[in-house]
Amino acid sequence: MKNIIFIAPPAAGKGTQSNLVAEKYHIPHISTGDILREVMKEDSEIGEYVLETITGGGLVKDEIMYTLIEKRLGEEDCKNGYILDGFPRNVEQAEKYDEILARLHQELGYVIVLEIDEKTLARRITGRRICEDCNAVYNINVESETPEVESICDLCGGKLYQRSDDNLEAFQNRYQVYLEKTKPLLDYYEKEGKVFRVDGSQSIEVIFKKITEILEEAI
Ligand code: AP5
Ligand code: MG
Repeated sequence: MKNIIFIAPPAAGKGTQSNLVAEKYHIPHISTGDILREVMKEDSEIGEYVLETITGGGLVKDEIMYTLIEKRLGEEDCKNGYILDGFPRNVEQAEKYDEILARLHQELGYVIVLEIDEKTLARRITGRRICEDCNAVYNINVESETPEVESICDLCGGKLYQRSDDNLEAFQNRYQVYLEKTKPLLDYYEKEGKVFRVDGSQSIEVIFKKITEILEEAI
């Protein structure tokens, strides 16, 4: 399997689809947001910086991202393909990623874009709930994604929590950052003819089917 990059605004479904692709094709799902949420638990200067930045909805400094990503992509399980969810996030990161790919003798692969309107994203942001034990993701604003018992994980019985950046104020910042910094990446990758667009407002199953069709035709 070739490498895959998901590019999409906050709450578009990058994590949801990455998990499904990872399970089907047995390749690792690398979410820079998830990696940073682990870093922000650390009682250190960098932990505090990451917590503050994520909560405000801005981007973490590029240099921190490069160190995290190059280390992760160099690991053994990435040799046969991987899914990048959340990196690169601006043109500088994309240029750096090209250098990292060359150093690791890897190819760009597919760039999958989930397209979706702002109103639907805001609804998904405010409704997202995550299990603090097993990280399963729910959504109380989406009927099919609601937990059976309020605030309790269906899978392990753990307590559900809301991310510190899942509120409308932080969402406005995150969405602006997406439009200004991340969306220009589409032009960057379009030149290489590797961009595949999928309507992200459809159901999880329909989107996943579309993604597998893209991957299997392009393999
Ligand atoms: P990150 O964690 O990547 O956040 P994000 O890009 O804002 O995306 P989300 O995780 O919010 O959404 P998602 O697209 O994964 O959607 P999900 O599948 O969960 O980054 C967080 C922060 O980290 C950034 O703001 C930044 O500060 C920092 N950061 C990360 N990478 C960085 C980088 N490279 N450089 C610098 N800083 C970086 O779905 C959302 C909800 O909708 C869920 O509840 C789900 O159940 C539901 N849902 C999903 N699909 C559907 C569907 N089709 N229909 C209905 N509901 C659905
Ligand atoms: Mg995510």
